[in-house]
Amino acid sequence: MSDTESSRTERPCALITGANKGLGREVARQLGLRGMTVLAGARDRSRGTRAVEELRQSGIDAHFIHLDVDDESSVSAAADRIARELGRLDVLVNNAGVVEDDIAPSATTSTLAERIYRTNVFGVIATTHAMLPLLRESDAGRIVNLSSRLGSLAKAADFAAPHRALLAYNSSKAALNSLTLHYAREFAGSPLKVNSATPGYVATDLNGHRGTRTVEEGARVVVTLATLDKDGPTGGFFDEDGPVAW
Ligand SMILES: NC(=O)c1ccc[n+]([C@@H]2O[C@H](COP(=O)([O-])OP(=O)(O)OC[C@H]3O[C@@H](n4cnc5c(N)ncnc54)[C@H](OP(=O)(O)O)[C@@H]3O)[C@@H](O)[C@H]2O)c1
Repeated sequence: MSDTESSRTERPCALITGANKGLGREVARQLGLRGMTVLAGARDRSRGTRAVEELRQSGIDAHFIHLDVDDESSVSAAADRIARELGRLDVLVNNAGVVEDDIAPSATTSTLAERIYRTNVFGVIATTHAMLPLLRESDAGRIVNLSSRLGSLAKAADFAAPHRALLAYNSSKAALNSLTLHYAREFAGSPLKVNSATPGYVATDLNGHRGTRTVEEGARVVVTLATLDKDGPTGGFFDEDGPVAW
């Protein structure tokens, strides 16, 4: 990218949305340590450049890219820049996500749900739509959607088991899983693979750091799906141990 001498890199290039903190930053770190050029997407310039400086201190070829997934003009500007400076994209990690406070489903307003869906669903569609032409230029394009066990309809339907009933968040992740399946169907038979990942309950700002897993642990399944070889699966929902029920 233009802020270093590594334009038109021969390394695989990965774009991670919401890479300034939490799981996104850790996924960027782990992919960077595997030798990928990392495009760290963030909606806030100073938070994004700070994260990139830290990644570079670990020897990673990291670059800040301004990307607010809620804003289509920001998404298309990011795609234009990647097209101009790199000409392709090998990995897209749709990581940016938001959650609502712990309130009952019946207390959830459509305004709140719209806000959550805007980032977790429409933001993924906007980003994927803009990046697909670049991913199709890759010999081994990979899309990983950051889903959640809370988005599993099978788990929600099991009334005997405990389940955190966040109406907007959980249903947005169920919708995200549906996006995974539909993109994977469209691109089945091509090199492009599309999967959903659930990282487990990870201590980040999203849950006030109440999660029981570390970001290093949570990022593993994402990195595995981002670096699948050509025989790897597409159209699946996975945690670190394997397939998860939709
Ligand atoms: N933590 C868990 O236990 C857990 C479990 C299952 C799934 N997940 C999923 O993992 C993903 C990452 O979550 P996390 O736990 O790492 O949360 P986090 O620490 O709160 O990070 C969320 C990231 O998303 C970014 N973001 C939010 N809205 C955005 C937008 N419109 N455009 C661009 N970036 C935006 C945030 O940027 P700002 O700093 O600017 O707000 C931040 O970088 C989410 O999709 C989440 O649903 C997390």
